[in-house]
Amino acid sequence: MITFNRIVEFPKDIPETRIVVVGDQHYGAADADLKRYRSFIKENLSYPNSWLISVGDGLDAITTRDPRFEIGGIAKPILQAENNDDILDLQVEMFVTDHEPYRHQILGLGLGNHENAVRVREMGNAHRRICTALNVKNIGYSCIMELRLREMGATHRGMNRSFKILTHHGFGGNNVTEGGALSTFCTHAKNFVVDAAFYGHKHDYCYKRITRVGIDQAGNQDHQDVIVALVGTYLKTFNDKADPSWAETKGFPPRFLRGGWVLKLTPESGGGWLTTRMSEG
Ligand SMILES: [Fe+2]
Repeated sequence: MITFNRIVEFPKDIPETRIVVVGDQHYGAADADLKRYRSFIKENLSYPNSWLISVGDGLDAITTRDPRFEIGGIAKPILQAENNDDILDLQVEMFVTDHEPYRHQILGLGLGNHENAVRVREMGNAHRRICTALNVKNIGYSCIMELRLREMGATHRGMNRSFKILTHHGFGGNNVTEGGALSTFCTHAKNFVVDAAFYGHKHDYCYKRITRVGIDQAGNQDHQDVIVALVGTYLKTFNDKADPSWAETKGFPPRFLRGGWVLKLTPESGGGWLTTRMSEG
């Protein structure tokens, strides 16, 4: 697990900070809808005070030694490339090219079970290569980051609003019960002292606000919620062919193909708290 904190400054006239959280893009898979993903990040990262976090499986990273390998599962640009025997390198290149314009907005890129399987089996850390190429933080499989939101130019430490985010790629097999993954991750998130927890892996797209009641400094009842979210995916479960995808044969459900949340953080006037809103972007 990686832990770190970082100051995020917002301009006085744009107090809302937006944290765009994505994952499971599966670069290099034939059934990954990268056109949609590219338009999602372009649209949401054009906001001046926006930041990007990805929670893993950015690459499909399925190579010939993987039992899930299927030639029809490889994206056309990779099959047609001159060096098409180097699937991982080509996937890294695609991911880096698409994220290069936003690299100064990236808070961290996470490792998924797909990249990790290759790392363990073939001693090749494609995810690390991406982070090095973009010069961004490698937040590994799980991470707690503390964002200290501060108005640009403010020097008083009391002006910092702290917001803690857990990122975890996720775990577990196929959930037959609708909502089962959200329930599992809500339980898992309670192990961490954070304000929001984002998970990938399940390709589900939903969130829950766990409301916690406490007491403020004046002795009044106070709320401090924890957001638990599954970030969705850009990988289709079903292809358009007679030869099935791995997900199809395993009974994975279809998924909504506009993954990614936009967490909007606005400082409340006079206090140390932040108003949090989740949006589909
Ligand atoms: Fe995935």
